[in-house]
Parts: sequence; C-alpha cells; structure tokens
Amino acid sequence: MASSSSSTTMLLLLALFLALFSLLAAANFDQDFQITWGDGRAKILNNANLLTLSLDKASGSGFQSRNEYLFGMIDMQLKLVPGNSAGTVTAYYLSSKGSTWDEIDFEFLGNLSGDPYTIHTNVFSQGKGNREQQFHLWFDPTADFHTYSVLWNPRHIVFSVDNTPIRVFKNLESFGVPFPKKQPMRIYSSLWNADDWATRGGLVKTDWSKAPFTASYRNFNAKNACVWSNGKSSCSSNPTSSSSWLSQELDLTSQKRLRWVQKNYMIYNYCTDAKRFPQGFPLECTRS
Ligand SMILES: *[C@@H]1O[C@H](CO)[C@@H](O)[C@H](O)[C@H]1NC(C)=O
Repeated sequence: MASSSSSTTMLLLLALFLALFSLLAAANFDQDFQITWGDGRAKILNNANLLTLSLDKASGSGFQSRNEYLFGMIDMQLKLVPGNSAGTVTAYYLSSKGSTWDEIDFEFLGNLSGDPYTIHTNVFSQGKGNREQQFHLWFDPTADFHTYSVLWNPRHIVFSVDNTPIRVFKNLESFGVPFPKKQPMRIYSSLWNADDWATRGGLVKTDWSKAPFTASYRNFNAKNACVWSNGKSSCSSNPTSSSSWLSQELDLTSQKRLRWVQKNYMIYNYCTDAKRFPQGFPLECTRS
C-alpha cells in the first residue's frame, strides 16, 4: 500500500514537473520576435504563446526574430489562413542581409476553399536563388497547427513538415555550388496579398469580402540553434549541446519519407524543368 501511494506521488510530481517544463519551454513570442509592420495587424496573444498575422485590403503584416542564427534546427507551428485564402501568401523564411545574401524559404500560397495550398520552397546562396520546389500537403494546413522545420547545418538544409522531410539541399561546395554557411540569418514572416501571381498564376483574385485573413503561429523552438551575436556563435562556447544536430544526416526512415513526399506531393521541381534551363540544369541538379 505504502509503496503504491508513494509511486502515485512520484507520478504526480513527474506530471507536475513535465507540465511546468513545457510551460517554461513554450515559445515566448515577446522574447524571441518583434513585430515589424502591419500597423496593429500582427498580434502577440495568450501570454506570448500565440502570434497572429492578418491581412486586409489596406495592408498585410509581419514579424522578425530578435536573434540572428548561424546554423540551427528551427521549428515553428503554423495554422494557415482558412477558407477562401486564394491570393494570400504566408511567407516564413530565414535570410541574411546584403546583395549576396543567403535565404531559406517556406511560402504558403493560399487557394479557394477546398483546393490545396501550395508550399513553395527556395534556397538562395550568395544572392542566387532560382531553386524552387513546390508541394501540396497530405493534410489540411488550415484546420490545425502543424510543425514546419528547417534543419540547417554545414552538411545540408532540410525542410520538414511534422518531422517528415520534404526537401534536402545538400552542401555541394566541393562541386562548386555555393552553400549558406558564413552569413547569419534572421527569421522573418509575413502575410501579404500576391493575387497577381500566387493562385493559379494570378488567375484567382483575393476575395476581400472574406478579409481580414489570419495566420497563426505557436511553439517556436530554436533551442538547437546557434545564436550569432557580436561576431560569435553561441555554439562555440557550448559545443556538446549542439554536436548531434550539427552533423545530423537523414536516417533511412527519413529518406524513405522524403521519397514518399517527393513522389506523391511534389508539384514543381526546378531540377526537372528543362524548358527553364535550355543551357543545362544547375550543377546541384546533376549532383544530388
Ligand atoms: C489551387 O488549386 C488548384 C486546383 O486543385 C491547384 O492546381 C493549385 O496548385 C492550387 N494552388 C495554388 C497556389 O494555386
């Protein structure tokens, strides 16, 4: 009897501890981000555990991270604009500054109710992009929050959705393809109107009678990321905590998931768009 009640107490304590821990570990949008534009259309709510962006005919809105990062495993949960979101674009990306900038992009292109969102991805290195891949999703991204992640380490950049990798951009510097690895990046997000191109190439216009359009964010996690400040990386002072993700490669299960997504959900790949590259495909397309 005594031992069972003490183990119950232990379990309760454990549950309490876990609950506290998850509270403490929860994203704090005030701490990690600042709202940069939108004149009140971007809001930090629920004890800074939720951020919402909105768009109406007059303006969209956006935010950026306070920190800059140089490598990281960065997760964010997003719930995209529901209903008729045609013409709207929710951009979520990392970018450095200057004319030879690096950038890692997720863009979510809205659609008519019932038609699928498009996830658009791109990677810029030293100012050069043109590396688009687009996907549909295997779920409705407006019904609930889902986790969109970027793993950026010296080996590769992996885009994932709910822990399923959808795209890998490998470090192919040894074949002459520049790879983002020297310029720290900030995280940016914005919700804006792009009905001149986003939905079916601009054929479907934004229905302003449905405004305001709202996208929501929660559970930002950059615990495994190297914060760059004053020319120094937080990871160099604490190498053990960062070692595993910094050298992480895709295991066999992830490779299998990646192939599944690419086979069933990829709708555009610059590496197979022969019309676009009459002089031959970019180097990384022939090497991956
Ligand atoms: C919208 O839905 C149409 C029809 O299913 C689809 O072809 C298109 O890829 C979807 N996404 C966008 C952004 O137009």
